Amino acid sequence: MATPQPLQVLILGSGGREHALLKACLRSPRVQRVAVAPGNGGMALEAECLPVDLGNPEAVLALVQKTATNFVIVGPEVPLAAGVVDVLEAAGVRVYGPLAAGAKLEASKAFTKEFLFRYKIPTAASATFTDLNRGLEYLRTQPMPIVIKASGLAAGKGVVIAQTLVEAETALRDMMEAKVFGKSGEEVVIEEFMQGEEASIMLMVCGEEYLMLPPSQDHKRVGEGDTGLNTGGMGAYAPTTVVTPEVEGRLRTEIIEPTLRGLKREGIDYRGTLYVGIMVTSQGPKVVEFNVRFGDPECQVLMPSLATDPVEIMEQIAAGTFKPSQVKLRPGATIIVVLAAGGYPGDIRKGDVITLPATLPAGVDILHGGTQRLSDGRVVTSGGRVLGVVAHGATLQEASQKAYAVIPTIQFTGMHYRRDIGYRQLKRDGVL
Ligand code: AMP
Ligand code: GLY
Repeated sequence: MATPQPLQVLILGSGGREHALLKACLRSPRVQRVAVAPGNGGMALEAECLPVDLGNPEAVLALVQKTATNFVIVGPEVPLAAGVVDVLEAAGVRVYGPLAAGAKLEASKAFTKEFLFRYKIPTAASATFTDLNRGLEYLRTQPMPIVIKASGLAAGKGVVIAQTLVEAETALRDMMEAKVFGKSGEEVVIEEFMQGEEASIMLMVCGEEYLMLPPSQDHKRVGEGDTGLNTGGMGAYAPTTVVTPEVEGRLRTEIIEPTLRGLKREGIDYRGTLYVGIMVTSQGPKVVEFNVRFGDPECQVLMPSLATDPVEIMEQIAAGTFKPSQVKLRPGATIIVVLAAGGYPGDIRKGDVITLPATLPAGVDILHGGTQRLSDGRVVTSGGRVLGVVAHGATLQEASQKAYAVIPTIQFTGMHYRRDIGYRQLKRDGVL
């Protein structure tokens, strides 16, 4: 076989997830050069960072051509929903990430619910509304708690779990009347509340072939014990045994395989990450949501779980030649603890200088999210989830001890983090 052409990679995005993808590229023998657009302060120390408007496919194509990129890895959902993959593929550029038709699984919750019902895939009962009064009437007939969701993209903030009818009505009015999520809330999904424990299932999909990465769990709430406001994720770990072999079997046959068959049947050639958010209920696993990209911070704990080069997997998926049976996973457990900016998830402090340790112990990495590198070389805070400390160990307990041991060597004004990342699994492991 001819030696494949070395890759000139461009990663799209600027968070901790993209920093994990950058590290994977830097380790990959397939990659000759890697750049990031737009990137952040940490990535700027390791690769060229280029400004770009990720929601503008033509601007992304122009950058790809200017940099002689031959492989693009898309991190976040916005460029996927905007059709960046469609435009790049039409111009002959290989891309890891689904086309806009596939990205609808994240960009429209109403589309996703219809899809799930059409293929009888287990999920919460729901109804979709574009008329406020119809929605209010429906709410009055439903048991509480209930879940109100803006149908469109809302950067993870468009979901309200209402405990009372008054709260539910307020949430619905906020979305449909006050339009707090803009156009994303013009269509609203009202959904049955599911009781159970959540898990994040990350699939690397090539049509009907898929690799299931180790099941992970993230901590969405800002406060310890899963209390306080929702965030993008304060930490994560993998694997999790909440997905037992029985749950995994049902997940594959009742959720994953019907989903991939359904996509094919609808003419959607899905190639990229499919993130299945599940609730493990007393009746088995049910779909909470789909995302069409890696989770952040789940990606940061999953890249180290691959013994096979992740870039090679992404390249094969983009080319449509992926064979999951060839992939090897690494044993052990990985954790990430997110260090957030003062005020997060509300109004955040920005511009605080970050102090980092000069060296790190083996098996520990610091990934940057909301950071910026100033022209004098200092790195300062610029976003909510500033840094993530990632650690790998033989067990989750070992990984957790390694991560938390490094945190006191990192400083910035206002820094806060959760001290209990992984507690559910540590309890299951019998060490808490
Ligand atoms: P989503 O953006 O749809 O993932 O919703 C955000 C979060 O809200 C989820 O991760 C769950 O924690 C919670 N959630 C969403 N839908 C439900 C539901 N039907 N029942 C219980 N919790 C839910
Ligand atoms: N960690 C949740 C997400 O990426 O959507």
